[in-house]
Amino acid sequence: MYPSDIFSRMYADEKDTKLYPKKEEAPSGVDDILQTNLFNVMLNRRSQRKFEDREIEDWKLEMIFAAADTAPTAGGFQGFEIYHVKNPDVKLKLIQAANNQPYVNAPVVLVFCMNPSRIKMNFPHHIIKKFSVQDATLAAAYAQLAAHALGLTSVWIGMIDEQKAMQALVTDFVPGCILCLGYSQKMLHPKPKRKLTDLIHEI
Ligand SMILES: Cc1cc2nc3c(=O)[nH]c(=O)nc-3n(C[C@H](O)[C@H](O)[C@H](O)COP(=O)(O)O)c2cc1C
Repeated sequence: MYPSDIFSRMYADEKDTKLYPKKEEAPSGVDDILQTNLFNVMLNRRSQRKFEDREIEDWKLEMIFAAADTAPTAGGFQGFEIYHVKNPDVKLKLIQAANNQPYVNAPVVLVFCMNPSRIKMNFPHHIIKKFSVQDATLAAAYAQLAAHALGLTSVWIGMIDEQKAMQALVTDFVPGCILCLGYSQKMLHPKPKRKLTDLIHEI
């Protein structure tokens, strides 16, 4: 398996898409561009709130979407939706929805929402709702790692006024988080963590 194998998911059955490049426009040499050691990507990821004023290539974005869609979901029902916010006015509304955090005006803004109605399982509503929260969260986490593998940087926004964000997106889906993506203005070192021995509780 090569990283570019994910192209088969990106372009399958979407020959007429206007949004993203056609298969024949897929970049060559992508396997050389990507950081593909998963553990290095995880270790070196660091939240960044200052982005270069530079667009993210469509093919990178499409790869991030395809990566998000590889995440496990409850029952395989994909109980989440991704809003790719391009409209500058909507971005400004999302800043307000996110407690006025200015970096929500990032080059790429993705809102991961819960869609419990997709999860056709015979469990109580609160369980289905919880599944959809986890579906959206996992998809965002996969997208965040993929972004870093592609040389991008990100910040996860969890401080969201749900109602304001839903009004901004004009949706009934409740947002779980906003992922802000872009090229980093400067490299930051990963943050220190507590000792693994303090984190792991053997019982
Ligand atoms: C659930 C969650 C909510 C977060 N909410 C925000 C937020 O609203 N604003 C923000 O600037 N960062 C937010 N972050 C990013 C964290 O501040 C950041 O991940 C943390 O400081 C660790 O730094 P690192 O990502 O560089 O390892 C959030 C992260 C998570 C996982």
